[in-house]
Amino acid sequence: MHIPVMLNEVLKGLDIISNGIYFDCTFGTGGHSFVVSKFLNRHASLKMIDKDLSNFFIFGKKFFFIKKKFFFYKCAFDEISDIIYDNNLFGKVNGILVDFGISNYQLLDFNRGFGFKTDGFLDMRLDLNQNIRAVDWFNFASLDELVIVFSFIDNLKLSKAIVSEILFFRKKNKIRTSDDFYKILFKVCSSSKNYMNYFNKIYQAVRIFINNDMSVLFSFLRNIFDSLSSSGVLLFISFNSLEDKIIKNFFKNNSLVLKSFVNFIKPSIEELNNNYSSRSAIMRFFIKK
Ligand SMILES: C[S@@+](CC[C@H](N)C(=O)[O-])C[C@H]1O[C@@H](n2cnc3c(N)ncnc32)[C@H](O)[C@@H]1O
Repeated sequence: MHIPVMLNEVLKGLDIISNGIYFDCTFGTGGHSFVVSKFLNRHASLKMIDKDLSNFFIFGKKFFFIKKKFFFYKCAFDEISDIIYDNNLFGKVNGILVDFGISNYQLLDFNRGFGFKTDGFLDMRLDLNQNIRAVDWFNFASLDELVIVFSFIDNLKLSKAIVSEILFFRKKNKIRTSDDFYKILFKVCSSSKNYMNYFNKIYQAVRIFINNDMSVLFSFLRNIFDSLSSSGVLLFISFNSLEDKIIKNFFKNNSLVLKSFVNFIKPSIEELNNNYSSRSAIMRFFIKK
């Protein structure tokens, strides 16, 4: 089950206007959206985006019986600019939520290959129409490209060791499953004290690369301001320091258009005790002038 992260803080940050226009850029299992929808009246609109179409089939059903204006969009969230343009929403959006990463539901689905605790085909695409899967990349990526992606873990020695182990494995076999990759990592990292932490970071690095997440984030940030109304809120929940740093630095240089910003909020002790997945969450929100 996926528990929406920092739900109370999200509601407080969004400060929902009952007839407002809201975007959930990362629908997932619809947890945040569903609670947000309870604060909206029938004049409001909630637009929900996700790259992974299956999320809407599985978790969209709960919205069908509520008589409000709900819309689903299967796309990357930087395509929000097209939705804003098509619906003439420039300067009208009251709140936008981005809850990065993947849901527990996706993580535990062994057909998707997102996690190292479930063995399965090493796919890692959020959008199943995308051409390149993680297996394709693992088997054909150049040494330099592998090193660059693994440098995300901030340990050059370790990332080089992983890469040489991948190249060694590739000489005899194809990397096909999450278990193949796990074995490679285990050989290299298992003696380290923090090896679970490294495993998490490494899987995250590959997922971010395969899904082009950084380029989507930059293109989203560049275009999002015009869509917000005055006092409109942009709220992010990130799960790694790179995404968080990009967001923080981007807004540091945009203070002219901001009424205020909240530096960062971490989950409460109570949430950390109840939801392990929230442990690395960092929330930031920004309010337009
Ligand atoms: C952490 S989950 C969101 C969970 C959601 N807030 C909930 O309460 O259920 C992130 C979701 O965003 C989607 N996603 C990740 N990157 C995306 C992107 N660039 N564009 C659109 N959707 C994306 C994933 O498919 C996943 O379903």
